[in-house]
Amino acid sequence: MTLTGDRDLLQIVYKNLLDNALKYGRPGGAIRLVFVSEGALLRFEVWKQGEDLSEAQLSQVFDKFVRLRRAEGLAQGTGLGLFITRDIVRKHGGEIRAECPGDQWVKFSFTLPAPT
Ligand SMILES: Nc1ncnc2c1ncn2[C@@H]1O[C@H](COP(=O)(O)OP(=O)(O)OP(=O)(O)O)[C@@H](O)[C@H]1O
Ligand SMILES: [Mg+2]
Repeated sequence: MTLTGDRDLLQIVYKNLLDNALKYGRPGGAIRLVFVSEGALLRFEVWKQGEDLSEAQLSQVFDKFVRLRRAEGLAQGTGLGLFITRDIVRKHGGEIRAECPGDQWVKFSFTLPAPT
């Protein structure tokens, strides 16, 4: 399947979501990558196990310069990654969301229009 988009910008999206899963997951915790083709949409999911996030935290993570925990000063980051990621996804006509489906999973999923 061929996806039309800006390769460099979409790489920023994949890289940030994977980096985050690795940086903020617990040691030994699982990571799941899911790719689903749903009619007019492609959906990508990056799941990582580590801790539950509250609704308030989930709604903040896409804002500029947000870092949820002080201890994350130890993991390098600017707090800009998800802000930029959402912008790139939207510019490609997609949407991104963060959810906490339970059992300490945090799930980021984004859609892109499928090639026509
Ligand atoms: N998969 C995740 N699980 C738990 N918390 C997360 C996850 N992804 C992001 N976060 C939280 O959201 C904050 C913002 O993430 P974002 O990617 O925007 O910035 P960053 O990772 O801190 O910096 P950068 O992306 O520039 O390296 C993170 O600092 C972290 O607190
Ligand atoms: Mg990041």
